[in-house]
Amino acid sequence: MLGEGFLGRPSTFGADLNLVVQLVLGVALLTGLGLARRSRFLAHGLCQASVLVVTLVMTAIWMAPAYHANWGPGIFLLGNRVTTAAAAHVVIGTVALALGAYVVLVAGTPFVPRALRFTGYKAWMRALIVLWWLALSLGVLTYWLATR
Ligand code: HEM
Repeated sequence: MLGEGFLGRPSTFGADLNLVVQLVLGVALLTGLGLARRSRFLAHGLCQASVLVVTLVMTAIWMAPAYHANWGPGIFLLGNRVTTAAAAHVVIGTVALALGAYVVLVAGTPFVPRALRFTGYKAWMRALIVLWWLALSLGVLTYWLATR
């Protein structure tokens, strides 16, 4: 739909763009981690919240439509390496996005009721970064296997 890719693989422009954007966002997340370590909490919060928002947008305009158009629930039958990687990516990616939204809402807004708030910020944020990079790695693996 968006023409040929630009990374020299048998891919589409949208998939190549998504790959590059997600890798840049993954690095931005680590940069944001560094900001927190240097106690620059406002910059840290803005950085991590931006990563979440851009990923939500890329999911809405590219990954979810690609899932419905090209992949579908059949991937959960885990028929081959490509669909297994894609299924793991969709599950872990969905959990990472949901957890990311929760962490950003708790850390950056007053909207979450006290009973549903966490206090151990470090543990939650560390777990989220690990989960996010797992989702990212599975996305890269899906791309690599699907464009061989
Ligand atoms: C932390 C969240 C996520 C990250 C970092 C991420 C990252 C990536 C990356 C790097 C790719 C490879 C580039 C591409 O082929 O487009 C990809 C592909 C894909 N992702 Fe995600 N993703 C995330 C969440 C999701 C979610 C929630 C879904 C659920 C629908 C999803 C579904 C897909 C699908 C179906 C593809 C293959 C797209 C295609 O056919 O080109 N991803 N993702």
